[in-house]
Amino acid sequence: MHTIIEPFKIKSVEPIYFTTPQQREEILQKAFYNPFLIQAKEVMIDLLTDSGTSAMSSEQWAGIMRGDESYAGSESFFRFEAAVRNITGMPYIIPTHQGRAAEKIIFSIVGGKGKYVVSNTLFDTTRANIEFSGAEGIDLLCSEGMLPSVPAPFKGNIDVEALERFIVAKGAQQIPLVVITITNNSGGGQPVSMENIRAAKRVCNKYHIPLFIDACRFAENCYFIKIREAGYANKSILEIAQELFSCADGCTMSAKKDGLANIGGFLAMRDESLAMQCRNILIITEGFPTYGGLAGRDLEAIAIGLNEVMEEPYLKYRIRSIEYIGEKLDTAGVPYIKPTGGHAVYLDARAFLPHISPDQYPGQALCGALYVAGGIRGVEIGSVMFGKYGENGSLIPAAMELVRLAIPRRVYTQSHIDYTAEVIIDVFEQRKNITGYKIIYETPYLRHFTARFQKV
Ligand code: F0G
Repeated sequence: MHTIIEPFKIKSVEPIYFTTPQQREEILQKAFYNPFLIQAKEVMIDLLTDSGTSAMSSEQWAGIMRGDESYAGSESFFRFEAAVRNITGMPYIIPTHQGRAAEKIIFSIVGGKGKYVVSNTLFDTTRANIEFSGAEGIDLLCSEGMLPSVPAPFKGNIDVEALERFIVAKGAQQIPLVVITITNNSGGGQPVSMENIRAAKRVCNKYHIPLFIDACRFAENCYFIKIREAGYANKSILEIAQELFSCADGCTMSAKKDGLANIGGFLAMRDESLAMQCRNILIITEGFPTYGGLAGRDLEAIAIGLNEVMEEPYLKYRIRSIEYIGEKLDTAGVPYIKPTGGHAVYLDARAFLPHISPDQYPGQALCGALYVAGGIRGVEIGSVMFGKYGENGSLIPAAMELVRLAIPRRVYTQSHIDYTAEVIIDVFEQRKNITGYKIIYETPYLRHFTARFQKV
């Protein structure tokens, strides 16, 4: 078999600026050891996120020119609405400026004190919006999802039995929504099977609880269903997506991921009266229902991106390029979540740096080391992002200490990926010299974005 090549040619390029390890050590110190506080031009390979960082196609750029900027009833809105409706089958489609704006709207309606929103794993902005409403977010990930080194095909699945137990224990009236995140970003970019979504929907139906999908990476999830779940090999990604969304009552989406756009998102649902309530908030916080928080040109880019993202040569290359990093890391025994996910490689910082305890944030320390060694920017998904303080002020660590290296869509070539793997392996070989951090500044919500650290 020949090499799987990038299914695109490059028409426009951006420079990468080179720095030395000494320069990067200084830059990192000035940024208080938080990669979010480093300027992008001081990063060589930026794997901080796959969100809003995609390269758009020439068709999308053409769509940008076609964008209809009418305040009400824009042509671009109807093209956007048709694209979303074709995939989700949902009648009510509400554009927002990004995913968290959709979350903010839905949870300010259904959330509130004493309520629980149950999920396979909530992403941090979703959890923050739930908690901000006064409700509690509950993660019920399947047991294999918690074992970083054990491969399984659908490690993003929700634990359906635990879901039912939880509903019975708390009472269905306390649970306004069940949310399934596809792919499970915080748990390794791992997919959820169709069978699991169906089983979760059966439990939701039994207790009359709506099921929502956090659909950010729906196309990657559907591709995994195609190649890993019996009965889907001959179905198109669109057919699989349509079947998947047919199990749901609604969804929130960040078009910055599988919308292949640089900004945008939406809420979609089947319930008319809920949609009316959402639109009321939309008008106050985002904008008129036919543009939400977006320009007409953004709606065009998303409408086109949502179709391009389902093309199989693209998904084959996408999933393979991430698997390829994993295979390189295996040659040196670098610990990461197995198998590799849809949009990122998740290094297992606890196993990578066993000499650094969770209260010295091994994931953050590993991010720092990767930046200094190779100018690579990743993000901690561990106790900085999800840690809580107990009553005595001591840290309650996150379930896992991970470093996510998220691959922007259609941006880096194979040599960038080869370089990245080489740097990770170098850092792994020098891991004994890496020291932990302590937090010297933090905010009450989403502290990882702005926290400041010091080396201990
Ligand atoms: N849900 C999931 C699963 C996400 O990964 C994200 C964003 C959101 C919701 C929120 O969407 O950014 O458009 O408001 N994830 C980005 C990331 C930030 O880096 O993983 P948003």
